[in-house]
Amino acid sequence: MKTAERLTKIPPYLFMELRKKIARAKADGIDVISLAIGDPVEATPGGIVEELCRTAKDPENHRYPTDEEKGMMSFRREIARWYGERYGVSLDPAGEILGLIGSKEGCHHFVLARVNPGDIVLMTDPGYPAYRSSILMGGGEPWPVPILAENGYLPDFRDIPSEIAGKASAIFLNYPNNPTGACARKTFFPDLIRFARDYDIAVCYDNPYSEIVFDGQERLSFMQAEGAKEVGVELNSLSKPYNMTGWRIGMAVGNPDLIAAVSKVKENTDSGVFNPIQYAGIHALRNESGNIDRMIALYGRRRALVLGTLAKIGIKFDPPRGTFYLWVPVPKGMSSIEFTNRLFEKTAVVVAAGTAYGKYGEGYIRISLTVPDDRLKEAMQRIGREFSK
Ligand SMILES: Cc1ncc(COP(=O)(O)O)c(C=O)c1O
Repeated sequence: MKTAERLTKIPPYLFMELRKKIARAKADGIDVISLAIGDPVEATPGGIVEELCRTAKDPENHRYPTDEEKGMMSFRREIARWYGERYGVSLDPAGEILGLIGSKEGCHHFVLARVNPGDIVLMTDPGYPAYRSSILMGGGEPWPVPILAENGYLPDFRDIPSEIAGKASAIFLNYPNNPTGACARKTFFPDLIRFARDYDIAVCYDNPYSEIVFDGQERLSFMQAEGAKEVGVELNSLSKPYNMTGWRIGMAVGNPDLIAAVSKVKENTDSGVFNPIQYAGIHALRNESGNIDRMIALYGRRRALVLGTLAKIGIKFDPPRGTFYLWVPVPKGMSSIEFTNRLFEKTAVVVAAGTAYGKYGEGYIRISLTVPDDRLKEAMQRIGREFSK
């Protein structure tokens, strides 16, 4: 059966390929350790699971969640309270908040809500690969904006040709950044807002790692910046802070026109989030900030272990201060793929090659800290042994 041409433009999803590679090696009896995928292995806090179970018993919650198509009002109010408490941001639950099936869904539907066929959509390079796929599926043309180490992995808007900016209808950004771990500075937001205003570009500030920061890095929301609500939305998610990746729950906040447009797309596609998951989400946002503190302490220890091992084998760098990823320069004279392959062949440790995130990812690999401690220790021992030979 022939399938739609739009799919031919989309490269195979990075993690699908990796999963196949890992499965093949495991089938050959190899003890593979994957540090490639960012998916917390620790359980969702028990109180969240209990709230799901409790509310799932009520038949009222078995129906379509469409009566309030932007998400239950109680969920949106809780999001507003959480944004106020954690970021000092004021949001109107009626018009400025929308429940999502994770921020990945939000990225996709943002494109359908804003981008016309043929529009240029800017995205960072390296960048989260799903942006590219969503842009292509929505009929847009992805345009990579380099983010380089020497600029703190932030885009320099002056380098974007004005004829390109003039044809762009949207931009995707994400800080704390996947894959580089870089964090934005508050002073970056006015530049972004000015650029968006000058060219009438809608900002999709994808912020699912907003809570995962280290070494005194301030938690930031784009919505803290004056004028942010005029130019864009911020996506956020319960996946990473509350170990809820499989639950599929997040939120879009910000510009009311964009929120209404994404909501319209959702009404006509997925009809929203299962109510018991929204109740569990309310519980998480209200009661489980302790989980965030525990996870940051845990990732912090793992981060120190990896940085220590890398330093011992001669890879030293100043690590960015966000996300549970480390963006690591590969040894001189090797490409990202060569180093990734060598690691896999010699140690059975899988990492993501930087080029999987765009051509400016050359020279790097991404290591994820979301693996059990004992497996990470084992991986670091193998790497230490192999590269100190
Ligand atoms: C930058 C970025 N955006 C979105 C997502 C998806 O998050 P969610 O689980 O909320 O859909 C991820 C997950 O890895 C991510 O790295």
